[in-house]
Amino acid sequence: MSSYNIALNFEDGVTRFVECKAGEKVLDAAFRARINLPMDCSDGVCGTCKCRAESGRYDLGDDYIEDALTDDEKQSGLVLTCQMVPESDCVIAVPASSTACKTEQSKFTATVTKVEKHNDAAVVLEMNVDGTPPVFLAGQYVNIDVPGSGQHRSYSFSSLPGESKICFLIKKISGGVMSTWLESAQPGNKVQLT
Ligand code: FES
Repeated sequence: MSSYNIALNFEDGVTRFVECKAGEKVLDAAFRARINLPMDCSDGVCGTCKCRAESGRYDLGDDYIEDALTDDEKQSGLVLTCQMVPESDCVIAVPASSTACKTEQSKFTATVTKVEKHNDAAVVLEMNVDGTPPVFLAGQYVNIDVPGSGQHRSYSFSSLPGESKICFLIKKISGGVMSTWLESAQPGNKVQLT
């Protein structure tokens, strides 16, 4: 078997199916399908990605800490999607709405308001959303189209949900597409996000 079907049941009654490759973690499979499940550390530390496995076989991994998932929670069927590797088709109840998990791909435009060196390794990119602020979860990723490159890069919001001003802390990568654009980015530049 090279892949499994994973049904994600959201708390608003919406179900979405994602294909999870053998050995792939559920969080990664969902992100590949442009579904942003709740997450923060993606390392088995924070517990933000906790969901309930309603059926299926899976490996919970051994890289998480007890604070993120206790033995009792594990016995009761709770899982960390950032660690969970399915071994069969699975049904997972997600304690968040499908809207918050951005199951419909949404596009929006933002205007750069600030590009500021954070330290030698990172840059703060701040933008104002044109129109309604996007719905997102803490730590959620968004794709930022790098102007003029035809490419996009994924970053998690460092600003709070519901605000029209959005912010990203972007690691500098020598010669990187985003890092190169940031060197000349100016307030007023328009950027597309999905
Ligand atoms: Fe932190 Fe999974 S995202 S434990």
